[in-house]
Amino acid sequence: MIDLRFADRVLEVQPSATFKYDAAAKKPGVINLTVGRPDFDTPQVIKEAAKKALDEGRVHYTPSKGIPELRKAIAEKLEAENNIADLDKDKILVSGGGKQIIYCILMALAGKGDAVAIPNPSWVSYEAQIKLANAEVEWLTLKPEEGFVPGDDFMTQLEETNAKLLILNSPSNPTGAVIPERTIKKIMDICAEKEMFVISDEIYEKLIYEGKHYSPASEYENVITVNGFSKSYSMTGWRLGYCAYANRDVIDRIDIIHQQSLSCCTSFAQYGALAAFSDEAKNASDKMCEEFRSRRNYVMQRIREMDDVVCVRPNGAFYVFPYFNGPDDLELADKLLEKGVGVVPGSAFGSQGRGCIRISYGSANTNLLSQAFDRIIG
Ligand SMILES: Cc1ncc(COP(=O)(O)O)c(C=O)c1O
Repeated sequence: MIDLRFADRVLEVQPSATFKYDAAAKKPGVINLTVGRPDFDTPQVIKEAAKKALDEGRVHYTPSKGIPELRKAIAEKLEAENNIADLDKDKILVSGGGKQIIYCILMALAGKGDAVAIPNPSWVSYEAQIKLANAEVEWLTLKPEEGFVPGDDFMTQLEETNAKLLILNSPSNPTGAVIPERTIKKIMDICAEKEMFVISDEIYEKLIYEGKHYSPASEYENVITVNGFSKSYSMTGWRLGYCAYANRDVIDRIDIIHQQSLSCCTSFAQYGALAAFSDEAKNASDKMCEEFRSRRNYVMQRIREMDDVVCVRPNGAFYVFPYFNGPDDLELADKLLEKGVGVVPGSAFGSQGRGCIRISYGSANTNLLSQAFDRIIG
């Protein structure tokens, strides 16, 4: 047999921990709280639009950046809802999910000798993608007792870092934390002073239960906004995400990575996504958000009944990230799996996640959550 030598990049980067724990939780009888997706169907109006596009023969390559109608609708949404000025369809790039967009941005902006700062803990793919881009990861500390909202230590580390880029994520995976506007502005002021560029990952924007979403690109120049359809419209399988930036040249550079790896996104999926801007889709998304709010409230009520667990109520996304004062989180996740509950150990998201577990209530209704907590405390 040929002795196949793998490239260093693939030897350094681990498979996604969330996919791994999700697979382990697929055993019969296990309540799976690992999944980072809503258990809702995609709104009918979006599905109909995609079906219509198929019937009309829209089955070919599209322009690399995405169909113009969709990019125009995205630019208008960002202007109307997020107060981001000076956008048009040429300043939008649609790629295969928020994940692919962030990968394209990192491949275009970060390389050997560069460092990229990310919150500790944060979504598993940031670290992996930074490493795939041959850049270094710099972790900025978040704390369970501060509800994982950036505090003094985070700001000091940000001031001291030589990183070229910062990835911000609000609402956050894995913590559910929504960063208040004043805190984002403090972060952005530091970044602007240091001439650091920011990637603002706003994929959970529509899933906020208290507080308001703030897009830093509404007031700051040094920020690329990332968003998508997966979480807001339960379209995780459609693989559509986008980024926006007021300078077209930057988008064109990012598009080189997208074009040379994916060419363009699935044609009929893009026509479906156009319908996400309809009132019908918005109503469906609002309804989903209401259901998640009530699940979040239920989960918090059960967590508050537990001894020795620190968990500030998260205001967004569909995750809670309780800190268990004591046990090792990898052992805890294994123990909970034996009890029939699948969760992701916190250390998969960074060292500050040690002792925590990520519970997703995106894919389990209150009845299932109730059974899961009975097993956890049992
Ligand atoms: C913080 C964060 N950003 C981006 C994504 C990417 O989502 P998608 O690629 O499905 O658009 C995810 C998905 O889990 C996420 O949690």
